[in-house]
Amino acid sequence: MGRRILTAGATVVLALVMVACGGPDLPEDATGEEIYVQMCARCHGSDLRGGTGLALVGEAARSTDKPESYLVQSIYAGIGRMPAFRHTLTDDQIVRVAQYIMRQQGR
Ligand code: HEC
Repeated sequence: MGRRILTAGATVVLALVMVACGGPDLPEDATGEEIYVQMCARCHGSDLRGGTGLALVGEAARSTDKPESYLVQSIYAGIGRMPAFRHTLTDDQIVRVAQYIMRQQGR
């Protein structure tokens, strides 16, 4: 009984997480910028200068001299309080959004 309620609760939470994470309205071939706007801007800010999440460009950013693999890994597996995106984005989409950030960092 208790377990069944727990399972139902977990299913609802999972469904909510999947809806909250964008999903269907993000096309497979979305550009890095489109992915960023939909999935990342609410925490990192539409100008990439931070908000809930930390800054990705400018003086305060700490990733401007990190390799692409660092950005990809952070997005893929999550880092600190940031959720992982390996279940919501394809590997290609993760690389595209990482490269978008690097372009905004001027490299
Ligand atoms: C729920 C808020 C949230 C969302 C959504 C989010 N991030 Fe983050 N992100 C964070 C936080 C908080 C950190 C800092 C984590 C830490 O080290 O404690 C972070 C860290 C990062 C880092 C590492 C930066 C560094 O300097 O170490 C990158 C890269 C990054 N996020 C990219 C993205 C991308 C790309 C997306 C969208 C696919 C995204 N984030 C979505 C909150 C978020």
